Amino acid sequence: MREIVLSTDNINKLREIREILEDLDIKIYGKSDIEGLDFEVIEDGDTLYDNALKKVSAMAERVDFAVLADDTGLFVKALNGEPGVHSARYASEHDDKKNREKLLNNLKDKEDRSAYFKTEIILIDEDKNIIPIEGVCTGKISLEERGDNGFGYDSIFIPDGFDKTFAEMSHEEKNQISHRSRALKNLRDKISNL
Ligand code: IMP
Repeated sequence: MREIVLSTDNINKLREIREILEDLDIKIYGKSDIEGLDFEVIEDGDTLYDNALKKVSAMAERVDFAVLADDTGLFVKALNGEPGVHSARYASEHDDKKNREKLLNNLKDKEDRSAYFKTEIILIDEDKNIIPIEGVCTGKISLEERGDNGFGYDSIFIPDGFDKTFAEMSHEEKNQISHRSRALKNLRDKISNL
């Protein structure tokens, strides 16, 4: 069985990634499951790619496993792409509720509510090959929060083709179409050949 360490201990992300890759014979660890990975990376890159590369490189230096990092942003057209790479700390560091409130407030008078999520995933395999891949999910920002089945900006994002937010969907439904699942599905062939 292959083993991959993720650059996160976010239980929602770990769950999503495990669900999407569950048919592959891969054991997926969170960062805190592996000794020696108890370090902080300052995510101050200008792009999702820069941040993902920082996180994954710091791990690859310390372990011989394959390592995978993802960095995600929500890009809102009427706000010139904000919060984008600053999504985690838009209003306040890792306070999802405040971040959502700030976004809804900034969009109050805007007609165009279109937005997209983008996930940048970088895998560094056991031979230290760097494999980057992206996934995008387009949609719009809802007028108010709806649903409680998600995390981050899920309760204010309505993907194209639906009239409910990610937080009103089952995990399976979100995993069919989400930015992260699209990136991971693109990566699956490569992972299965590790
Ligand atoms: P990170 O780069 O994955 O740490 O995420 C950046 C920001 O986007 C954080 O505020 C997360 O809560 C949020 N985020 C990441 N993935 C998702 C998602 O799938 N749905 C909603 N929000 C997300």
